[in-house]
Amino acid sequence: MLTWALREVHDDGAATSEVLAPMLNIRSYPLPSGARMPAFGIGTWRMGENRARRAEEVAAIKLAIDLGVTLIDTAEMYGEGGAEEAIAEAVGGRRDKLFIVSKVYPHNAGKRAAIEACERSLKRLKTDRIDVYLLHWRGSVAFAETVEAFERLRRDGKIVDHGVSNLDTDDMEEWVAVKGGERVATDQILYNLSRRGPEHGLIPWCRRRKIPIMAYSPVDQGRLLKNAGLKKIADRRQATPAQVALAWLLGQDGMVVIPKAVRPEHVREDIAALDLKLDKEDMAELDKAFPPPKGAKPLEML
Ligand SMILES: NC(=O)c1ccc[n+]([C@@H]2O[C@H](COP(=O)([O-])OP(=O)(O)OC[C@H]3O[C@@H](n4cnc5c(N)ncnc54)[C@H](OP(=O)(O)O)[C@@H]3O)[C@@H](O)[C@H]2O)c1
Repeated sequence: MLTWALREVHDDGAATSEVLAPMLNIRSYPLPSGARMPAFGIGTWRMGENRARRAEEVAAIKLAIDLGVTLIDTAEMYGEGGAEEAIAEAVGGRRDKLFIVSKVYPHNAGKRAAIEACERSLKRLKTDRIDVYLLHWRGSVAFAETVEAFERLRRDGKIVDHGVSNLDTDDMEEWVAVKGGERVATDQILYNLSRRGPEHGLIPWCRRRKIPIMAYSPVDQGRLLKNAGLKKIADRRQATPAQVALAWLLGQDGMVVIPKAVRPEHVREDIAALDLKLDKEDMAELDKAFPPPKGAKPLEML
């Protein structure tokens, strides 16, 4: 449901109301800093790779912000900084309303290198802070070094919270055992209807510790949208397959969902999924179309 935020504007003593931006009905989860992470945002992988597509990408990010989305997920890897630059262009003066997540490459995750990488991201994003800064995946740098750098960035106000991506349960155990690692804000993982492996082990592990999960590739980059079972439920609910796939994730406690869309109709459709609440019948049919795993499986990544 879109509810419009009204602000009283005092001009020459007269009070008038100005429509600022719609406020979406998005829940949020508390992080170690006390900040809250919205349960829905937009992804930016594959953006910033091609100059010819820049205007379209900036327009898509702007549209999402205009419609009330606040969380934007990016990484230094995306377009080798190009996605962060596109975000800066789209954000303009609205930074303070937004929640920006970025990630450091594993080969830049050393004690000094991570600080330099973060400073480069801040410059490209044209901001003084990143809300959540993640290790993109595990590389050869010791976790203790990365966490030390993340903690220094946090103390210096360059990042507000920090966390990880693509870490399975055993890696998470190792991360939280490092001094400062217990402040992990999230694990961003591949999780969608067709990739339900983390339901055994990792997701319950995070839930027990109140660590929100960021589910990436929520429509499996478009691949899962052709599923006949999904299409049937979408038709019954007068929704689209993408909306059902997103609603399935959004209905889960502690889940943050970050679809990426450049086409404006996709941006609007994905945001409208926030209004779709699945019922028991939908859920049972989804379990049939995408059976939950019977046991633990190693975490997949894209
Ligand atoms: N941490 C990691 O290692 C990692 C890995 C992968 C992704 N991520 C993050 O997660 C975000 C999302 O994942 P993703 O980009 O891999 O995949 P995704 O969001 O599952 O899928 C994106 C694709 O789906 C299309 N799409 C979006 N909404 C649609 C709709 N309503 N109907 C039909 N098609 C639709 C998009 O088309 P158009 O763009 O043409 O509109 C695009 O081709 C990324 O952008 C990135 O921020 C993180």
